[in-house]
Amino acid sequence: MTQKLVGLVLAAESGAVLIDHDAQQAAVQLKLVRELAREAMDELRSVIVHLRPASLESQGLAVALGKHVDVLRRTHKRDISLEVGAGVPVAAAVEGDAFRIAQEALHNALRHAGAGARIAVVLHSEPGRLELSVTDDGVGFEPDAAPVRSHRLGLTTMAERARAAGGTLTIDSTPGAGTTVRLEVPGP
Ligand SMILES: Nc1ncnc2c1ncn2[C@@H]1O[C@H](COP(=O)(O)OP(=O)(O)OP(=O)(O)O)[C@@H](O)[C@H]1O
Ligand SMILES: [Mg+2]
Repeated sequence: MTQKLVGLVLAAESGAVLIDHDAQQAAVQLKLVRELAREAMDELRSVIVHLRPASLESQGLAVALGKHVDVLRRTHKRDISLEVGAGVPVAAAVEGDAFRIAQEALHNALRHAGAGARIAVVLHSEPGRLELSVTDDGVGFEPDAAPVRSHRLGLTTMAERARAAGGTLTIDSTPGAGTTVRLEVPGP
C-alpha cells in the first residue's frame, strides 16, 4: 500500500505541474490519482477489517467495546451511551465478529446519522444468547434500496460477519426516524 500511496503523491504532483500548460496530460494524471486512491482505500479497508484490538484477546468483548466507545466519545466529541450486561463469556470467534459489527455500526451512525443524533450501544450476553445493538435517532435510510447496497461494503460485511458467527443481523431504519442495527447470536 505504501507504494501505491507514493505513486498517488507523484501523480498528484505531476498533475499539479502539468495543469497550466498541458491540460490533457494533467487529466491523465488525475485519473491515475483517482485509481490509485481507490485501490489504496480498498487495501486500507481490508487491513482494518483484519485488525483485532489487543484488549479483545486479553479482556474480552465487553471491555474492548467499552474502550472503543470511549475513544469515539473523545475523538468525535459525541455522546454515546453504553449499556453492558455481559454475564457470560462469549466464544472468541464470536467476540471478534461482534466487535467488528459494533465498530462498523458505530462508524455508520457517526458518519451518516447526522451531527445531532444520539447513539446508544447495548450488549447483553446470557446463557443461550448474545445480543448487541447500536441505535441512533438520526436521519435514517432505506436499508433495502439497491443503490445503498451496491457500492458500499459496511452493511454487506456486517451481515456476512453475523452469518459467520452463526447469528443474524437485523437493520431497522426509516428515513427521518433513526436506525437500529442488531446482532443476535445463539450463545454458549
Ligand atoms: N446509521 C445510519 N444512519 C443513516 N444512514 C445510514 C446509516 N448507516 C448506513 N447508512 C446509509 O447506508 C449506506 C450504506 O452503508 P455502508 O456502511 O454499507 O456504506 P458506507 O458507510 O457508505 O461506506 P463503507 O463501505 O465505508 O462502509 C450509507 O452510505 C448511508 O447512506
Ligand atoms: Mg459504513
